[in-house]
Amino acid sequence: MVAKRGIQVASLRGRRVLVRVDFNVPQEANGQVADDRRIQEALPTLNHLRAAGARTILMSHLGRPEGRHDPRFTLKPVVHRLSAILGQPVPLASDIIGIQAIEGSARLANGEFLMLENLRFHPGEEANDPAFAAALARLGELFVEDAFGTLHRAHASTVGVPSRLPSYAGFLVEREVRELSRLVERPERPYVALLGGAKVADKLPLLASFLGRADTVAIGGALAFPFLAHRGHTLGATEVEGGLEDVLVEFDRAAMGAKTEIVLPTDAVLERPGTSATDVVEIGAIPPDAIIRDIGPATVARFRGALLDSRTVFWNGPLGRAEDPRFAAGTRDVLAHLASIPGYHVGAGGDSARIAQDLAVTSSFQFLSTGGGAALEFVQGTELPGLAILPDA
Ligand code: ADP
Ligand code: 3PG
Ligand code: MG
Repeated sequence: MVAKRGIQVASLRGRRVLVRVDFNVPQEANGQVADDRRIQEALPTLNHLRAAGARTILMSHLGRPEGRHDPRFTLKPVVHRLSAILGQPVPLASDIIGIQAIEGSARLANGEFLMLENLRFHPGEEANDPAFAAALARLGELFVEDAFGTLHRAHASTVGVPSRLPSYAGFLVEREVRELSRLVERPERPYVALLGGAKVADKLPLLASFLGRADTVAIGGALAFPFLAHRGHTLGATEVEGGLEDVLVEFDRAAMGAKTEIVLPTDAVLERPGTSATDVVEIGAIPPDAIIRDIGPATVARFRGALLDSRTVFWNGPLGRAEDPRFAAGTRDVLAHLASIPGYHVGAGGDSARIAQDLAVTSSFQFLSTGGGAALEFVQGTELPGLAILPDA
């Protein structure tokens, strides 16, 4: 593990400090913050900056608005929650790098905060456009990286800004790196990766890195669909992410040479259109109008079996649509079982952490990471661009 230069050593009083946070929080249908964990986890850094008399300018993305202003993804509900938590107002500069942001950051007094509107409203963020990065960097004198969940993205705020300003790792980034490093450097075996969720196109190409690294990879959630389809199963009306054929062929080829066991669902809980009833059916017998929404009891038993003598567990991604109580049992039963198994258990992901909370299974984990894709890449030993660019301690 390479330690990064931390904010403890930065001189902060009266300085304008740009802080990248990951406030990409789960939202309610009306945009309100459904779970403020990612905000809470940034507080050690924010409180340190405030106590040290810094003038803090916060930057984050929310969702994937793809370079356009989209009111569904405004950070207004986030600054509202943040202001309540900090007990002081955090104004929002809605023009990101415009006159509001420039004047707002110049007017900050020691210990005050300003937040920039969703960085992904601007096309320059994801493109890491040099002019956009330079405009962001001009708002501050120092940069603090505390957005662990976004370190796997080479964007203007995660790479462009730290290449232009003296940069430091925040406390959340330090803690995440310390905890997750335990899975990279000689994890105790057997090591089981339990994977699910819905960001299939993002995550599926990463899974091959678990081959040889983990002893068992158990796959549920929507992530399992392309594997099942690739093995010739028809999945009814379930939407299966396409375009992954080559990745799956390559995965199977790599799996043949590796000692890692792959465990896939053998049964499923189905949603039937037009009814609220659910069915449990074997994977080979899914009717044409049905949609897979959860792993079934036989799969739960297999996953629990795989975890039974594990010593290290990495979990990312719900095993079904666990926000709906009809489809939460798979995720709940597998994760609840973990609580009675000794070893080091890490849960990861914005949605995963919220669901663990809702299902009352957070005590199954020694550490809940705020990162989803970032944690997934980190535990596979991949260099994260947002981390690599920070100076070493
Ligand atoms: P994380 O944020 O933890 O990294 P993802 O964003 O990849 O996880 O996925 C979380 C979402 O996956 C949840 O909202 C859950 O409803 C969804 N999901 C998992 N399995 C299914 C399924 N079978 N059908 C529909 N949605 C699913
Ligand atoms: C996450 O929720 O995993 C991070 O905030 C990154 O979001 P992204 O996958 O849209 O880049
Ligand atoms: Mg998610």
